[in-house]
Amino acid sequence: MNKKMTINSIQKCKGVRPLVMITAYDALFAKLFESSADMILVGDSLNMSFAGRKDTLSATMEQMIYHTKSVCNGAKNSFVICDMPFGTYTNKEDALKNSMRIFQETDADCVKIEGGQDRATTIKYLVDNGIAVCGHIGLLPQSVRSEGGYKVKGKTEEEKIELIKDAKAVEAAGAFCMVIEGVKAQVAKEVALSVSIPVIGIGAGVDVDGQVLVFSDMLGLFEEFTPKFVKKYLDGASLVREAVENYSTEVKNKKFPKVEHTY
Ligand code: KIV
Repeated sequence: MNKKMTINSIQKCKGVRPLVMITAYDALFAKLFESSADMILVGDSLNMSFAGRKDTLSATMEQMIYHTKSVCNGAKNSFVICDMPFGTYTNKEDALKNSMRIFQETDADCVKIEGGQDRATTIKYLVDNGIAVCGHIGLLPQSVRSEGGYKVKGKTEEEKIELIKDAKAVEAAGAFCMVIEGVKAQVAKEVALSVSIPVIGIGAGVDVDGQVLVFSDMLGLFEEFTPKFVKKYLDGASLVREAVENYSTEVKNKKFPKVEHTY
């Protein structure tokens, strides 16, 4: 069994080897990912792939706590990150109350919150009160409605400067690492070089300190849409459909169960 990663061992990977992060929402998959991933993220993306909602904004504390408990049950040896849902960290007091609840009710190792310079005060308040924080800068899925879509960042010099300021603010506030999402690769590289904590990319090119993918995207299970940055390592949806179709046919033809499946 691999040794469980810690904040210290995660940070030591910067400049040494890329970090592997993947999402999981339940014990079954978390257990399967445990030996290959350094960190498991219980992302609020579960609201889309598991709950079938159009975006992440309606995810609730109850959902995040339920799924984080399940992941921690399945992957007892993994470093687990729990996403703070939209609207639960609009001020530092709410952020602390809600992140305390996550820490008290689950075995999550840290929380993740979206935002850069605008969230620095909140991140510092959480860290000062014993909550480890993973930042999230660049394309922020919780801003999809206010921005009118998922918009790639770092396309202009001004955006690059703001992203570097965001990363530095998140680091200075005490986050131990951060996710950078949907950012031009050259800019993401410069952002990663501008801070001393790991910067984990999703849709941010190869020159960052690690990668994260949503598991239902990379296993080809989520079919609503596939962002350009997703590589499908499995044609999961077709395999599952084929298996269930076989089962259905065998049940209808009385080919299942056979003697070996019968008491
Ligand atoms: O919710 C999620 O899965 C995430 C990833 C996109 C990083 O935040």
